Amino acid sequence: MNATTSRSVVLASRPVGIPQAEHFRIVETPVPALTPGQVLVRTVYWSVEPAMRGWVNAVGNYSEPVAVGAVMRSLASGVVEASTHPDYGVGDLVTGMFGWQDHAAVDAHVISHRIDPQGPPLSASLGVLGLNGLTAYFGLLDIGEPRAGETVVVSTAAGSVGSAVGQIARIKGCRSVGIAGGENKVRQCLDVFGFDACIDYKSQDLAQELRNACPGGVDVYFDNTAGPISDVVMAQLNIGARVVVCGTASIASWDPMPSGPRVERHLLVKRARMQGLLIFDHADRFAEGRAQLASWLTQGRLKYLEDILPGIEHAPDAIAGLYRGENQGKRLIQVSRDPTSGNA
Ligand SMILES: NC(=O)c1ccc[n+]([C@@H]2O[C@H](COP(=O)([O-])OP(=O)(O)OC[C@H]3O[C@@H](n4cnc5c(N)ncnc54)[C@H](OP(=O)(O)O)[C@@H]3O)[C@@H](O)[C@H]2O)c1
Repeated sequence: MNATTSRSVVLASRPVGIPQAEHFRIVETPVPALTPGQVLVRTVYWSVEPAMRGWVNAVGNYSEPVAVGAVMRSLASGVVEASTHPDYGVGDLVTGMFGWQDHAAVDAHVISHRIDPQGPPLSASLGVLGLNGLTAYFGLLDIGEPRAGETVVVSTAAGSVGSAVGQIARIKGCRSVGIAGGENKVRQCLDVFGFDACIDYKSQDLAQELRNACPGGVDVYFDNTAGPISDVVMAQLNIGARVVVCGTASIASWDPMPSGPRVERHLLVKRARMQGLLIFDHADRFAEGRAQLASWLTQGRLKYLEDILPGIEHAPDAIAGLYRGENQGKRLIQVSRDPTSGNA
């Protein structure tokens, strides 16, 4: 029998900086009734993204902040439980911006796409075949423009985006060098994701180890952190290097923005290019990106790790945990049974 109540996670107060558990609240409401054309989705997995910090912060961003009291914005995947839309039927697997709620009544346009029940696991639709894989794919290939034989360096290399960047770089014939926090993540980069080299920025001399790992310099830097890690990499760029600015995980406060070493001299001397990436700008090519990533996955050329937190009660602290570096792969929250795996 279908549930009559729905649990969701709402923004309880607006954080300054990284959102902590106390900024969220779990609430229970009746399962919403459908209006004509709507679809009721029982969500199974909720995504947890570093970008969510920006979605709840008042500091200027690329999207309106989530309102205090509103359901937390999030990509999620799940099963259609009821539908008044001709394109969707009960049992369909779908993904979209459903929010952190275990039942979402949505207009059909909120559904990003349908998921093949015979294909990769449902959870992969939010990681390696979702926003993270697509960010790696378009960020590296369209902005980084790697050429075979070049050296690609990526920060947060063991994470969902970083691990895909390193593997795609190798698929394209490049040398891939990761930067990650801690021995365990370095091992994952080398043993699971096949990086040519990986440096533990927490315990090693990053500048020296980067020189050792990149004797010919850095041609593409996929920057997920900014801050002290990027200061080191920028000083080792090659002439004509490309820097993809994807994330700023190491910057604790955006207001005021910290000052630090200036990049202009490196860009000038090396005639390098630095460009920001917003993955939603590539939305019209997502189907192409997903198809290529799925094909590499099926061929065993693209590997991924997941960090699935079991249950809604883990949601409030889940973003803060990403910034503590706790996650081992793509962080998700599982809130109901996965029909593709038989998980509880
Ligand atoms: N531009 C876009 O459109 C777009 C889209 C998606 C994602 N992104 C960005 O891509 C990056 C990776 O995302 P993801 O989902 O794959 O997350 P992730 O890398 O799996 O998780 C975040 C990682 O950030 C690292 N980190 C946290 N605080 C740090 C600090 N102070 N200094 C250095 N590293 C720190 C931690 O790794 P360590 O333990 O290795 O330090 C943590 O595991 C994020 O910056 C995210 O915002 C951008």
